[in-house]
Order: sequence, then structure tokens, then C-alpha cells
Amino acid sequence: MRTIITTIAAVIVLAVVAGTAFVYSGAYYVGADRSHWWITTWLLNQARDRSIRAHASGVAVSADVGDPSRIVAGVTHFDEHCVVCHGAPGVERGEIANGLYPRPPNLADAARHYTPGELFWIVKHGIRMTGMPAWGDHSDDELWVTVAFLQELVEMSPQDYAKLVAASRAPGGHHHDSQEQPQPAPSQAPTGEDHDHPAGHHH
Ligand code: HEC
Repeated sequence: MRTIITTIAAVIVLAVVAGTAFVYSGAYYVGADRSHWWITTWLLNQARDRSIRAHASGVAVSADVGDPSRIVAGVTHFDEHCVVCHGAPGVERGEIANGLYPRPPNLADAARHYTPGELFWIVKHGIRMTGMPAWGDHSDDELWVTVAFLQELVEMSPQDYAKLVAASRAPGGHHHDSQEQPQPAPSQAPTGEDHDHPAGHHH
């Protein structure tokens, strides 16, 4: 019994020492231009999927999330904030998306993998260390219409998407009064909001 406990303790100490030495040595590669080891990918995916499922289980699903009249409002929000990373039917992702690791996925199938409550949770809280932002500063209503839109995305053609965008931009469309006046083109990366750069100079 004694030896077993001593052995276990020694193994734990060795593992901690080896782990600490590994981190401090700087050998781990943090660049976004190489893939994770498979074990890291597996661990992160498990952690993400289980965290989303557990935390979203308490989300009360908005009653009219399936209401088609909300799709136009949803496309407004999606077109303004999400297309740059995720693209849309017939719309390429913006340049910023190509350098991100993990790459922002195409969301056509997202509604098949997640319940509406889970989609809402993801959009509201974001996903740490992936580039997926939290949108919690937007109203829940805006986030629910975006979820409604994501549910329709499963079967949406480029033509349908283009029509919805046109409807959302039409006068009297569902634009929530935003201070940003000119609409950026859907596939354009946002510019000019980053005050770390010298005025107007982007690489
Ligand atoms: C700056 C880039 C960026 C923007 C902007 C962005 N996302 Fe994401 N999003 C990501 C990345 C990266 C992931 C992948 C995270 C991962 O691998 O776990 C992601 C994942 C997701 C997922 C989960 C998809 C899946 O299959 O697991 C959903 C849903 C989602 N985003 C919705 C949105 C919505 C809706 C918006 C706009 C309100 C948005 N995202 C804006 C980068 C972005």
C-alpha cells in the first residue's frame, strides 16, 4: 500500500514538473498558422461542446423564434456583424476570417448541430480563444432574430439570401437604428474602428 501511494505521488509530481518545464521552455507553438495536435483539438472540442450543452440547458427559448417575419430582422444583424467571418450563401467570408485559427465555420449546418437555445447561448457569450465574439451587448431580441435566421440558413440559396439582404436594406426595412451610417459591403472586413493604428493607415 505504502509503495503504491509513493509511486502515485511520484508520478503526479513528475507530471507537474514536466508540464511546468514544458510551458516555461516556450516549446509550445501559439502561432495561428499551424494546426493543434489532434489531442489538443479533441480536448478543446469536447470542452466546447459540453460547455455549450450544459450552459445553454437553462436558456428559455423565445416563443416566436420560428416566426418567418423575424427573418428579415435577423438577416440585418447577420449581414452587419457575422458575414465578415462566416460568409453567407453566395457571399465569401472576409479576409480576416482566413487568418483565424480555428477558421470560422460556414454556418449553413449550425442549426442541425445545435438547438435554438444553444445557438442563442453561443452568439450571446461567444467562444473563448477562438475569435468567436460574445454579442451580449446586443439585445436578446436581436440575438433571437439572428437565431431565427440561422435556422432558415440550412436550406437558403444565394438568391434567397440576396433577396433577404435587399429587403433588410430597403427603406422601412428592419434596420435597427444604428449610428454607423454607410453600410459596409457584406464581404468587407470592418475598418476604421481600431484606434491602435495610425490614422487611416491599415497595413
Ligand atoms: C471575428 C470573427 C467572427 C465573427 C465576427 C463572428 N464569428 Fe461566429 N465563430 C467564429 C469562429 C472562429 C468560430 C468557431 C469557434 C470554434 O471553433 O469553436 C465561430 C463559431 C460560431 C458558431 C458555432 C458554429 C459551429 O458549427 O460550431 C455560431 C453559431 C456562430 N459562430 C455564430 C455567429 C453569429 C450569429 C455571428 C454574428 C452575430 C458571428 N458568429 C460572428 C468567428 C466569428
